[in-house]
Amino acid sequence: MFDGFGRKIDYLRISVTDRCNFRCQYCMAENMVFMPRTELLSLEEITLIAERFIGHGIKKIRLTGGEPLVRRDMRDVIQRLGRKVKTGELAELTLTTNGSLLTEYAEHLAYHNVRRINVSMDTLHPEKFAEISRGAKVDQVLAGIAAARQANIKVKINMVALRDFNQDDLIPMVEYCAEHGHDLTVIETMPMGDVGADRKLEHIKAEEFISPLLERYSINPIEYKSAGPARYMGVEPLGLRLGLITPLSNNFCDSCNRLRLTTDGKIYMCLGHDAHVDLRAAVRNEGIEAVDQMLQKALKLKPLRHDFNDQLEGSAKILERHMNVTGG
Ligand code: 5AD
Ligand code: SF4
Repeated sequence: MFDGFGRKIDYLRISVTDRCNFRCQYCMAENMVFMPRTELLSLEEITLIAERFIGHGIKKIRLTGGEPLVRRDMRDVIQRLGRKVKTGELAELTLTTNGSLLTEYAEHLAYHNVRRINVSMDTLHPEKFAEISRGAKVDQVLAGIAAARQANIKVKINMVALRDFNQDDLIPMVEYCAEHGHDLTVIETMPMGDVGADRKLEHIKAEEFISPLLERYSINPIEYKSAGPARYMGVEPLGLRLGLITPLSNNFCDSCNRLRLTTDGKIYMCLGHDAHVDLRAAVRNEGIEAVDQMLQKALKLKPLRHDFNDQLEGSAKILERHMNVTGG
């Protein structure tokens, strides 16, 4: 599949639920109102739609949320999509998780061909972790990560860069990741939804956020490319691979290869645009074959680039959509 600008589209991110057992300040409001369950795609619909997308050339699927593992019966979805990895129709099935339920899920994931996962963890400091997530326990996440490694799943840690909050935690995080063989990615905050944060969460450029590392380590760009938009560097002598996701300070849309399926069954072509098609309505009215036409429509609608920068400068409104619905 190619979009209107000739970009090859082979990556689908699916937000399987907007719910989460954490309330990270940059992601959710404390009293989040979630979607009524009737709005959600059923797990059967998610699986059928994903299989249809695979038929059109999607090679990588990432399950996100919200927290994908809080949805009941995720085991079936993982099993059915994991089978596509086994047959070679999918190159990769992966997920982004907060890690809190991995002790229960790690073996199931590994058994069904999930070989890599991303775990969100902004600090290792227990009190600060509880503060930013509004009450979660970092120990539970660390135990989940250990379970994943035990099951032979590769782990990449996602750390959201928050000015005046977790820059001090970067060196401990780098050392922890190097010691355990995880990759680390630093993500710039994106203006998504009104989250009513208790703390003023200021944007900081990833380059500035990582500057304390330069005093201790040697950091050089490396060739490594993953399916996502990160740029990678090597941190020596630790042998750590460090990714930077810089939607604001450095636009990466030229190589964007992805579509997003939201919790309520819409296809969004870009995290930063409201253009979408309503797949749920089409599938419920016309059956699963409706996916084919909607997909063609979606490809035509994919914009050239996001406009988060305009939003920061106040010339466009901040997106009303929350990250947990569209999927990070
Ligand atoms: N800006 C940047 N990253 C965010 N995430 C959630 N909300 C935001 C935001 N507003 C992150 C999560 C997760 C990833 C999918 O997106 O921490 O690691
Ligand atoms: Fe949950 Fe992830 Fe949002 Fe935190 S960032 S509230 S873990 S979905």
